[in-house]
Order: sequence, then C-alpha cells, then structure tokens
Amino acid sequence: MIQTPNHFINLNEIPTQTIREIMGHGHRLKQQKFAPPQLFDGMSLAMIFDKKSTRTRLSFEVAMKQLGGHTIVMGIDEIQLGGAESVEDTAKVLSRFVDGVMIRIGNHELVEELATHSSIPVINALTNESHPCQIMADMMTIEEKFGSTSGVKIAWMGDYNNVAKTFIQAAPKFGFELVMAIPPSLQPDSSNLNGIKIVDDPYEAAEHANVIVTDTWVSMGQEGKGTQIFQPYQVTKKLMAAANPDAIFMHCMPIHRGEEVTDEVLSTPACVIYDEAENRLHAQKAILAWCFENSGVRVHYRNQNANPRDNTRQSKQP
Ligand code: CP
Ligand code: NVA
Repeated sequence: MIQTPNHFINLNEIPTQTIREIMGHGHRLKQQKFAPPQLFDGMSLAMIFDKKSTRTRLSFEVAMKQLGGHTIVMGIDEIQLGGAESVEDTAKVLSRFVDGVMIRIGNHELVEELATHSSIPVINALTNESHPCQIMADMMTIEEKFGSTSGVKIAWMGDYNNVAKTFIQAAPKFGFELVMAIPPSLQPDSSNLNGIKIVDDPYEAAEHANVIVTDTWVSMGQEGKGTQIFQPYQVTKKLMAAANPDAIFMHCMPIHRGEEVTDEVLSTPACVIYDEAENRLHAQKAILAWCFENSGVRVHYRNQNANPRDNTRQSKQP
C-alpha cells in the first residue's frame, strides 16, 4: 500500500505530539553530533532554491551527508520547473529519482501543489508565508535555555512576515505566550489568531518577556521597501532591559546590524543567534528522519541506539 508521505510544509497541519517527537529526536541527534547515526544511508535529497540561503542550505546538506545520504542542489533557473515544465510533472519525476525534496521559493501554493503530486516528502525551506524549519530550531534553542517552551513569553518585534506567521502557528503547539509588537499599518486581524496578542508598543510586548525576537525589516523579494515605520521596533539595549533580566535575544539571521538590532545587543551574552543557527542542523536531521520514515524508503534506525522505533520499510515502489 502506498502511504501519503510526511510533508513538512505547515506547522499547524502537523499534530502537536508529532512535532514534540521530532523535537526530542533533534535533541538526541545533537548529543550524537560527533558520531552521527547513518539513518539516511544511500538516500538522496533534492534541494531547489529560488532564493538565497546560507543556513538552510548548509543545514540540509550537512544533515544529509553526516547521516549517510547525499544531496542534489538545483537553482530554479537551472531546472525545467523555472521554465515551461509543470509543477505536477516536476513532482512526479522527482519522485522517481530522489527520496525527498526541499524547496525555498516565495510562492507557498506552489510548494503545496508540489506536495500534492509527489510520492516523496516535500519540505518547505521558506516561502513568503512561512519558515517552519527555522521555528523548529528556535524551539530547540528555547528548550535548551529555559528547559521548556511551555509558559515562556516570546516578544516579537517588527515586521509581520513569514517568520512571524510561523511563530503564530507554533504558539499552540509549543505552549508559549506570544506578544507581537508590529507597526499598526501592518497588523493582522487578531480576532482569529488564537489568543496571540498584537500591540503597537514594543515596550509593552517586552515586559516580562523571556525571549525577544526579531527579523529583517526587508524580507527577500521585498527589496526597495521603506523601513521607517520599523524604527521604533529596533531591538536596543534599552528594549532588552524592559524584558526579564535573563531574557535572550533571537534572530533567524541574516542580520542587518544597526537596523532591526543594534551591535550592542549582539555583543551581549543574551544573544543566542549562533546556537540558534547551529540548531538548524540538528532540527533538520530530525525533520528529515520524520519525513522519510513514512515514505516507503529505508530509514536505518537500527544503526541508532536512541531509536524511536525500528522502521525498515521496503524499497520505494513507484
Ligand atoms: N535563517 C535562514 O533561513 O537563513 P538562510 O536564509 O541563510 O538559509
Ligand atoms: N524573513 C526573512 C527570513 C530569512 C531567513 C526572509 O524571508 O527573507
């Protein structure tokens, strides 16, 4: 029987228990950093990019390779999908060649369409709507710093963008309180945001916060946009001081120093951006393992001591 693959596209579509299990696996894989289990022996991941990337590309490539698999990186301009070939044909052909595909592209609907026609897992590596892989690494980082995400207060500062929207999806899954300080003209209708609080004032959001998080004011594809309205939301030492004394500063990177955050904040011990970046690797491994395990391909868990279950399925049938 052909099963539906485990796509990783929208956090709100994945059961909370499953997300927690992926997270736990990520922590265990981090402990095995220097003796990585060969979970993906002989497996291939196609990586399609229509936007730039440092962390996402590194984390997927290193994750696959450390765990025994390999990758094929394709810029959108180099493949037929960027020309005349349909999403459906691309999905069906990829499904005959590789064991999974990750894609970074603005058009979120295209990623969902790719998944609809794929018999292999599709992973959202950032669209204009969301960045779920990033938020998994962020949650890992918060668990490391505070022991749990439950009950932690996260204050988001600035743009209402793809990363902000993914924090909103993550809040009920991870049990954190989320207050977002966003310029009034960009604020979403908060009546259907499941209790997420949206405010104008960054200092109101920062009060009692354990985490202050921001992102660029100009996401990829928005070049040329005005940034004046974001100036009051810049993360400064003064804003950090309005949060809890042990509050941490997070940012998915890349950072625009002196814009959304000052150099001064980045040089304090509160700044955990490099832990956050490293956790992309460990989270990615766990996401890939979950994606592959229901896809009719072999995930070699038997090589791993801390194995959630022995899942050695038969070879993929087209
Ligand atoms: N945070 C993040 O996704 O970084 P890259 O754009 O470098 O992949
Ligand atoms: N919001 C940013 C995130 C980059 C990782 C962007 O889309 O460019």
